[in-house]
Amino acid sequence: MSRGVVKFNPAFRQVNRSKHRYRVMKGSAGSGKSVNVAQDFIMKLSDPTYKGANLLVVRKVDATHRNSTFAELQAAINRIFGDEAEEYWEVRQSPLMLRSKVTGNQIIFRGVNDARDREKLKSITFTKGKLTWIWIEEATEVMESDIDILDDRLRGILPNSNLYYQMTLTFNPVSATHFIKGKYFDIEHPDVLTHHSTYLNNRFIDEAYHRRMMMRKERDPEGYKIYGEGEWGETGGLILSNYTVHDFDTSHERFDVMTHGQDFGFNHANAILTVGFKDGELFVCHEIYVHEKDTGEIIQMAEGKLDKRFRMPCDSAEPDRIKTWKKAGYRAYPVKKEPGSVKAQIDFLKKHKIHIHPDCVNTLKEISQWKWKFDPKKNIYLDEPVDFFDDAMAALRYSIEDMRRGSSIAFE
Ligand SMILES: Nc1ncnc2c1ncn2[C@@H]1O[C@H](COP(=O)(O)OP(=O)(O)O)[C@@H](O)[C@H]1O
Ligand SMILES: [Mg+2]
Repeated sequence: MSRGVVKFNPAFRQVNRSKHRYRVMKGSAGSGKSVNVAQDFIMKLSDPTYKGANLLVVRKVDATHRNSTFAELQAAINRIFGDEAEEYWEVRQSPLMLRSKVTGNQIIFRGVNDARDREKLKSITFTKGKLTWIWIEEATEVMESDIDILDDRLRGILPNSNLYYQMTLTFNPVSATHFIKGKYFDIEHPDVLTHHSTYLNNRFIDEAYHRRMMMRKERDPEGYKIYGEGEWGETGGLILSNYTVHDFDTSHERFDVMTHGQDFGFNHANAILTVGFKDGELFVCHEIYVHEKDTGEIIQMAEGKLDKRFRMPCDSAEPDRIKTWKKAGYRAYPVKKEPGSVKAQIDFLKKHKIHIHPDCVNTLKEISQWKWKFDPKKNIYLDEPVDFFDDAMAALRYSIEDMRRGSSIAFE
């Protein structure tokens, strides 16, 4: 039996020690915020000094916890306790819940997307102790009124003198006009600790990630400011906003038609989406999203996950790869590129409601950042998307191509 090896990025030492009521952590993508906060909470909740503490983890969409915060906390448990994880923590799947077997402290998960979610926030109770800590992940997606309601839940006499109330916010600083900036960063208050981190502070990030960030810096300077430097940027010029994220049935029988869409990549992601159409609406059901894998490896990953009966429109730039997919039994074919076709595909996407399954985390990240190019000289957005971090978006564009052209083939 062995304990795991857990390491912390030194950049977070101060926040991890802080007992401020508000720990507000902005940072670039990949700066280590989520891993750090997950490890920090697992350590503290396992510690008898903090007996009686309980953590509520909040994201806008409840269903997105499983593959993000819940997975991150579970990974932290495994790193910290190694082979002995099961002796120290109980893991419950439905509803999601984690409980320290040493302290009895619990972690639960909630969303704040609608009235039903908000109703569920009112009835939070723990078998032992009180709600003491709240972690709001991707806090910029959450409304200010929800943050205030959550803040209000942290009150009353604490069961032991080591305990304290605390809200932890983690996020990428998407817009300088966001209320979080005014509420926590533009003021000085003894209850507020703000923190800034970038991927450059993250000791554990790989070389390839650095290279992708350098590409982004060149191709998408505005995006790099937010997602590379972790500085307040601008979210103007977003291309798609007509999407919602929620759990839905992804079995193909319920759709009018189902298709794959593939954008090839190696340094950029290789993205394959499985998209269903129903009554004029789009459902992104499944994604494969990988870096630095060759075609053979991706085909292996797809085995059992992708349905060979569906059509697979692909990026036309790489006929060799299309050939390899065809040989493997997929209905891969190139999507014709014509002047204006990207714009026309986007227009089509804008006109149809898009549903995204919460498991498609990379599609979600891309769609929330996909922007029009900006011309700083003329101070206008151009009719052309930023050509970076758009691989799932390319796959999405290809997936609707038959439909857009009104081809009956789409229904084959
Ligand atoms: N303390 C750590 N120990 C091991 N790996 C880490 C640690 N912190 C970050 N990482 C690595 O860096 C990656 C990015 O960290 P993450 O916390 O997801 O960043 P952020 O939430 O800031 O976007 C993780 O997927 C993980 O591989
Ligand atoms: Mg994160």
